[in-house]
Amino acid sequence: MRQLSKINMLREQLGDIRNLGKKIALVPTMGNLHRGHLSLVKQAQELADSVVVSIFVNPTQFVAGEDFDNYPRTLAEDLDYLQQLNVDLVFIPDMDEIYPQDIQISAEVIVPELDTIYCGEYRPGHFKGVATVVTKLFNIVQPDIAIFGEKDYQQLLVIRRLVDNLNMPITVIGSPTVREEDGLAMSSRNKYLSAAERQQAPLLYKCIKKAVIAVKNGELNYQNLEKEALSTLKDAGFKPEYFSICDANTLKSPINQELVVLAAAWLGKARLIDNAAVQSYDGLLSV
Ligand code: PAJ
Repeated sequence: MRQLSKINMLREQLGDIRNLGKKIALVPTMGNLHRGHLSLVKQAQELADSVVVSIFVNPTQFVAGEDFDNYPRTLAEDLDYLQQLNVDLVFIPDMDEIYPQDIQISAEVIVPELDTIYCGEYRPGHFKGVATVVTKLFNIVQPDIAIFGEKDYQQLLVIRRLVDNLNMPITVIGSPTVREEDGLAMSSRNKYLSAAERQQAPLLYKCIKKAVIAVKNGELNYQNLEKEALSTLKDAGFKPEYFSICDANTLKSPINQELVVLAAAWLGKARLIDNAAVQSYDGLLSV
């Protein structure tokens, strides 16, 4: 496993790999790796000949007052995990390598509409930061394939749209959410939960599953389902931001049969997000 922090060194290595006709996959991360990240890496290894994992805590996607300074950084452990998986290249750039220019006057990538709803509404500027850093990483690595978690469903859609709209020759793969045994989606931010909050946390996914089942069973009053989930969460001490049943491709009001249930809620100091697709929806509209 090679660890590189400079773009020119990484490009040199990647040039050699590409010259051998090998397919390259990129797995972008902010580190503090857990089983969720590692499942993306394993999928990348199945789909490509050579895998690059990037570790960079990207300041521009943190909104003022968020946890950029306290975001868990565990590089030594992360490298151990990646070594065990026999990852080819780990790219660990410094801040100056990614943002050598004054960030305030640097070019940015905007994915309109999708970036101002749901998480974008509560974290203004977040998706601009994500789209910009992911574009930079794509331009640095020039991967054939890039893998992102379905856990961050809106992020995945933002990236799919940016790759499509900007004609990037990259196949974006969405990888299933990895969960703890009790259903809580794995996340670096779960560390912020107290022991009591950790016991409560799986309720978010329980509410999402309940809504999925209700929709599958033919319930068409989505607003009621959303309200019910919001009040269940509030009663249990969560501070929900949104709980929504929406179109899986646009995140707008449901217009076709592909739906997703999306939710975000604070529990103590942790902002939890989760989602589930409503599959097998076929036929219910005709009931
Ligand atoms: P980070 O939160 O470190 O996540 C890196 C990748 O791991 C993302 O694609 C995310 O969706 C995925 N992931 C996180 N938890 C997961 C889980 N429980 N199951 C499956 N996949 C999971 O997302 C980011 O970093 C950043 O926004 C980034 C894309 C790196 C840009 O800075």
